[in-house]
Amino acid sequence: MLTSLRENIDWVGYVDWTVRDFHSYHTILGATYNAFLIRDEKTALIDTVKAPHAERLLENIAALKPDMKIDYVICNHAEPDHAGGLSQVLAAIPGATLICNRKCHDILSAYNEDAGNWKVQIVADGETLSLGNRSLTFINTPMVHWPESMFTYVPEERLLFSMDAFGQHLATSQRFDDEVEIETAMEEARKYYANIVMPYGRQVAKILDKAADLEIDMIAPSHGVIWRTGTRSILDLYRRWAEGAVRPKVLVLYDTMWQSTEKMAQAIVDGASLPGVEVKMLSIRTSDLTEIATEAMESAAIALGSSTLNSHAMPAVASVMNYLGGLRVKNKVGIAFGSAGWGPGAVKEIAAWMDKLSWEQVDTPIKSVYRPTPEIIEQCKEAGRKMAAMHTNG
Ligand code: FEO
Repeated sequence: MLTSLRENIDWVGYVDWTVRDFHSYHTILGATYNAFLIRDEKTALIDTVKAPHAERLLENIAALKPDMKIDYVICNHAEPDHAGGLSQVLAAIPGATLICNRKCHDILSAYNEDAGNWKVQIVADGETLSLGNRSLTFINTPMVHWPESMFTYVPEERLLFSMDAFGQHLATSQRFDDEVEIETAMEEARKYYANIVMPYGRQVAKILDKAADLEIDMIAPSHGVIWRTGTRSILDLYRRWAEGAVRPKVLVLYDTMWQSTEKMAQAIVDGASLPGVEVKMLSIRTSDLTEIATEAMESAAIALGSSTLNSHAMPAVASVMNYLGGLRVKNKVGIAFGSAGWGPGAVKEIAAWMDKLSWEQVDTPIKSVYRPTPEIIEQCKEAGRKMAAMHTNG
């Protein structure tokens, strides 16, 4: 169903109900690729969709504009989930001018062999394009999510097309935040930030400063629902996440071979379970990376444990270190722990990884030889207590 955001500003995107793997992001609720059509004296299409769904986008446009006369196609972001359908769309509406910034054009040219045939207008940061009664202002937002990313703002409607920023992977027949469970929209926005946007907190803070100068009633991201009731809330949450704010929460992550490391993890949980502190334990092998990153983002403290397999951390733990390291999870206190039969093994690797991320380790890494002794269990409890106590008044 097509939906109007404002008079003659309509959603024409695609709801991807069945996608569950979005370049390793576990999209348990599906996804949407949002595109919007603005019909004024001139007509503009804001973004496209993934290449396999371009036909559907063209059908949606034709339902509103049977003559298919589109003056401008705006590309806010060159990543193929939004620009993959561009080539097909421009071929179907040959009179259209592609509007994008210089970097975006460079990236689109790398992805599309026919880019040399397109009619293109390069726009600079802050440049404005009139559509007649309404106008578009282009605002560069580098690294949120790629170097070329930009917002398109419609001042006359106080409407911001924000591409990935403020998005959520959420397939729904509803288009607005107040038509779905708001907790679901917020949780999926949090998950999206943790897994896509988190490495770029500094850049997010900059674009929030830029956005503070705009009057915004509605934010239309390229994924998920459009914010019209929770606009202020999502802006405030992005500020909080960009600052790396944490909650009194201890996350205990582990993988285990013969339950020795698991016993240590449980002892850390026991020690950390103080009043006012949320504690969560996840077995890495039965959790997915998307969930782990989401849990990690606002945790004040993270304990990471692994048995040693062939002198190294367990493969699933190595994968977590690779993923969270890439997301530049920072501002944490931590403890490395685990069981090994011989050699320094996994615990040394985990401690070195925490150092690299500049985490403050509350104790020396805790290593058990085969089964943890009562002394090792007590050491784990104490590490848990220390991590929790740092975030309570107790
Ligand atoms: Fe939704 Fe960065 O693409």
